[in-house]
Amino acid sequence: MQENTLYYGDNLDVMRRHIKDETVDLVYLDPPFNSNANYNVLFAEKDGSKAASQIQAFTDTWKWDQEDEAVYAELVTRGGKVSKVMQAFYVFLGPCDMLSYLTMMAPRLVELRRVMKPTASIYLHCDPTASHYLKMLMDAIFGPGNFRNEVVWSYRRYTAKSNRFQRLHDVILFYGRSDSIIFNDIRGEYGEKSGKADSHYKQDEEGRWFRWQKRKGQEPYKIFLSPEGRRLGDVWDIPHINASALERLGYPTQKPQALLERIISASSNPGDLVFDPFGGCGTTITAAQGLGRPWIGIDITHLAITLIKARLMDSFGNAVAFKTIGEPTSFHDAEALAASDPYQFQWWALGLVGARPVEEKKGSDKGIDGRIIFQGDKPEVFESVILSVKAGHTNAAHVRDLKGVLDREKAAIGVLISMQEPTAPMRMEAITAGFYESEVWGRKYPKMQLVTVAELLAGKGIDMPPIKQVNRTFKRAIKAESKKGEAESLPLD
Ligand SMILES: C[S@@+](CC[C@H](N)C(=O)[O-])C[C@H]1O[C@@H](n2cnc3c(N)ncnc32)[C@H](O)[C@@H]1O
Repeated sequence: MQENTLYYGDNLDVMRRHIKDETVDLVYLDPPFNSNANYNVLFAEKDGSKAASQIQAFTDTWKWDQEDEAVYAELVTRGGKVSKVMQAFYVFLGPCDMLSYLTMMAPRLVELRRVMKPTASIYLHCDPTASHYLKMLMDAIFGPGNFRNEVVWSYRRYTAKSNRFQRLHDVILFYGRSDSIIFNDIRGEYGEKSGKADSHYKQDEEGRWFRWQKRKGQEPYKIFLSPEGRRLGDVWDIPHINASALERLGYPTQKPQALLERIISASSNPGDLVFDPFGGCGTTITAAQGLGRPWIGIDITHLAITLIKARLMDSFGNAVAFKTIGEPTSFHDAEALAASDPYQFQWWALGLVGARPVEEKKGSDKGIDGRIIFQGDKPEVFESVILSVKAGHTNAAHVRDLKGVLDREKAAIGVLISMQEPTAPMRMEAITAGFYESEVWGRKYPKMQLVTVAELLAGKGIDMPPIKQVNRTFKRAIKAESKKGEAESLPLD
């Protein structure tokens, strides 16, 4: 069976290098839409301004540039239907943002078709901004005859005054790789619209729901509702994840797990390989793992990879085994990452110790890059480890600063993760912080710990009581067993 694998990197490159032809049973992809929005891991202030050092998870803005020209030229010179449809887009749209988005999508969809088994399906999650163009592209790549459904995911959310109807759905384009795909007839519950709750239906003495049907010249006879439930249509009412839902992790475009569970249950069987090339915070992967399907996930940010790892641990503990490919594995790699993108470096380094990123850095979070929450000695008390990550030069003042934050926050343990080896004055400063003492574990833990990236790469961890993570910025994922009722709908206006 395929080993569960998480890749850090650009999915086009990862697919080309690592994923073999006709190996995947089900693809779900939720690429950034062409909505011209910057999806920040939202630290927008209440007045709408953004905190100075907001973390940008990924940018959903497309601009036609020279790189697009080159990809476009490559697609066109390859010939075939994809070439034709791209040329048609060029003529119709001109070199604009939408064309840039479609040029990004086209080679990835071509690769996705290559890795799909003949019995596989693909679900492309998009919205009405681009769904009509993407459907043409999908027709060109998969063939119009392999189109199965345009699923409408309908949800409720806050609405605002507008001169059009409220936009309350996403579109999911469902295609098969061939006409003989895996498809399970999963059923939904009967609801108001399907009859059970309306007055025509009654229950007989055996608990079966039925209604009377009259026909000309005949006695009324009973029509029973199928005990297996209602055949699902292509409009799915699944609640969006609201601000206080338990499953919400704080990732801006997180999709409800119920949506992915439905897709996976319908289009794969236990043991089948599920693939999400735009992994985000790992909804597909978590749903696949819960349903006994092996999985492959890819994301291009360390933030997403760090969150996915933590989500899997929170949901399944040690029961989930997976390998991660593409993250820095040496000091040299880490240096390169720190030099190219300090935020990515920070997220990655926090991921090494299972910590979650914290917003920079107002009020109580000032001076903190990450947190780990663990169960204190008393059941109702949670203690925190606060972390600071330093890619550059470090000295005793950094330790003193973190000690100050530790006191201010009344945190149990402070950890300074650095690239540089700590100096003697830094170690001395750390020792003077004393210990956090746990009666339950019968141990003392150094209150201020200095760890280098090299030590973490060599397998060293934080000296602390066992983790039970609950996080403020990216919340802890709920345990896999306790999922029911977690995704409540947002109130309407
Ligand atoms: C809309 S989000 C996916 C959300 C996900 N369905 C969930 O429930 O969390 C899109 C994700 O694709 C990632 N991404 C964007 N371009 C990518 C690329 N070229 N390769 C891999 N991942 C990419 C972004 O970092 C982001 O996490």
